[in-house]
Amino acid sequence: MKVLGIESSCDETGVALYDTERGLLGHAIHTQVAMHEAYGGVVPELASRDHIRRLIPLLEKVLAEAKCHRGDIDAIAYTAGPGLAGALLVGASFAEALAMALDVPVLPVHHLEGHLLSPLLADDAPNFPFIALLVSGGHTQLMHVARVGNYELLGESLDDAAGEAFDKTAKLLGLGYPGGPALASLAESGTAGRFKLPRPMINSGDLAFSFSGLKTAVLTAVRARDLSEPDKADLAAEFQEAVTEVLAAKAVAACRQRRLSSLVVAGGVGANRRLRERLDDAMAKIGGRVFYPALELCTDNGAMIAFCGAQRLLQGEAPRRGGAFAVRPRWPLNELR
Ligand code: KG4
Ligand code: ZN
Repeated sequence: MKVLGIESSCDETGVALYDTERGLLGHAIHTQVAMHEAYGGVVPELASRDHIRRLIPLLEKVLAEAKCHRGDIDAIAYTAGPGLAGALLVGASFAEALAMALDVPVLPVHHLEGHLLSPLLADDAPNFPFIALLVSGGHTQLMHVARVGNYELLGESLDDAAGEAFDKTAKLLGLGYPGGPALASLAESGTAGRFKLPRPMINSGDLAFSFSGLKTAVLTAVRARDLSEPDKADLAAEFQEAVTEVLAAKAVAACRQRRLSSLVVAGGVGANRRLRERLDDAMAKIGGRVFYPALELCTDNGAMIAFCGAQRLLQGEAPRRGGAFAVRPRWPLNELR
């Protein structure tokens, strides 16, 4: 069965074709980073318009890469939320219309479920059950994953998401958009420990996170005096240490609590080198290991949506035929059945 995946929830347009027998046949992403850069963040209206421009060329590219035709598509999965309403609607309309034209079933998919399952696309995939650390621009969550469709939220951020904290701190340090990768690369040349930042909630005894205080602490340091470039690098390094230390400590605590040795990391912040290093070390210490999606599948992409849709179909979920549809800009993962 060949499932086409469509992702358009934010600033990446992703299209992919996943075959339940042969794996990923093709995938293509267009990132809007360059377009939004001038504004210092994602402009929703521009994002929606750009998704419209990109979808058909990306579909053609994926079909060519997969050596397939439209008629080979057996089902279509698309991101129905959470995300930007207009951007989601572009992908949803495209997927629903194409499904109707091809007379194939269509499946709305939860964006975070896509991220959660993305490490299963790797050759070396974890077995169920596992703990998942979901770290994106909008979410920081620890989840117990018993199987596809069975997710228990163990803890999440009470305020800013980890990626959001990276982005906002990058802005405070005068770095461009997107902030996360820029801050991470500045941190590589700095020394942690010269500035002292808190490790929020590290001893809270639960699996909750809080990152907004960290951003305020950085703001205080920035306002205290004129920071030189090396100062900024040191502050970036300390910030990265603080965030990754808390994330690693709580992820390991979740694995201990549930007596599980497999940790899956998903979402854009999962691309952070220092986070990976810390998680690998901490999990090795308890005799466990960490599973990551391929680097190109860490950020938003169509492959995880196609894969997620395929898994749901294999589990017997009844797909819809085209017709009335809606997107859900806000959609808590625990409301998923
Ligand atoms: O999952 P994602 O692509 O989009 C959603 O939010 O769904 O995650 C994007 C987030 C952004 O906040 C970005 O700054 C962050 O992931 N990010 C990073 C790195 N690469 C991306 N944060 C820290 N270090 C990185 N290397
Ligand atoms: Zn995402």
